[in-house]
Amino acid sequence: MQAVVALSLRLLPKHATAPAMKNPTTLITGAGVRIGAEIARHLAARGHNLVLHYHHSKEAAEQLARQLQEVHGTQVTLVRADLEAFADGAAFNALPPVTHIIHNAARFLRDELSNFSAQGLRTHLATNLEAPLLLSQWFMAQLPQDVEGTILVLGDGSKRWSVSPQFFTYGVSKLAWESVIDLLAASVAPRARANVIALAPTLPGEQDSEEVYQRLAHHAPLARNSSFKEICTTVDFLLASPGITGQTISLAGGFGLTTHRSTPY
Ligand SMILES: NC(=O)c1ccc[n+]([C@@H]2O[C@H](COP(=O)([O-])OP(=O)(O)OC[C@H]3O[C@@H](n4cnc5c(N)ncnc54)[C@H](OP(=O)(O)O)[C@@H]3O)[C@@H](O)[C@H]2O)c1
Repeated sequence: MQAVVALSLRLLPKHATAPAMKNPTTLITGAGVRIGAEIARHLAARGHNLVLHYHHSKEAAEQLARQLQEVHGTQVTLVRADLEAFADGAAFNALPPVTHIIHNAARFLRDELSNFSAQGLRTHLATNLEAPLLLSQWFMAQLPQDVEGTILVLGDGSKRWSVSPQFFTYGVSKLAWESVIDLLAASVAPRARANVIALAPTLPGEQDSEEVYQRLAHHAPLARNSSFKEICTTVDFLLASPGITGQTISLAGGFGLTTHRSTPY
């Protein structure tokens, strides 16, 4: 299956006379809703131009693009792609030059060792590992020569704390980043840096309840989940830290401390 990509909407600020190349342009995958949309709002307020990728959330992404244009004068380009069927970055070639990329989109479905299928494993790996790597390849090929690029991956779990075994193949696709980020960072240096922000539970998914997330927060040594605010603060920190690469910054509320080396679930 081929990746389906269409440049569906491009909104230029009403006052724009030329592309604002001096402002960073950041591509966020899965940016129409939830955490991706929050990061988009935050970066727009800080003057970034944005490329917002979406798959099914067309209406939400278009509405967000209009809002950011009206409120901040953000130059927004929308791009649609199914990352599960992503073959290469060729379809992204019509985009303006991108200086930072945030791999936020993820497939997140429940399965366990006892019942996972090869197809389930493949689709989690395709969306959560393979597509971000192919998009990173595209990103480096198009990165302007005079710009230091940034690659950020929204992760889940790290060496010291794990995603629940009830999300087995999702967990495999996310925990792989703990090692792969080192390889990616070495491959893109010195022109770009690559880091992972590993989140604790932040926002309940379709298969979770708010009550479960409250309970998870109480298990954490810091008795809290991750928040939008600290995710955005960490994005800012990593964008502004030219010596940090190949790292995983964990926002796990203390999971992984030596006395709490267990799954947060
Ligand atoms: N939520 C949490 O508590 C939590 C905890 C730990 C880590 N994280 C990580 O943080 C990131 C954001 O979390 P989230 O909960 O906001 O994510 P999410 O809602 O589960 O997914 C974000 C977006 O990913 C896109 N996506 C999924 N499959 C895709 C595909 N095949 N092709 C293209 N896009 C696809 C969807 O875009 P469309 O809607 O446009 O289809 C979706 O809106 C993820 O990487 C997640 O693993 C989240």
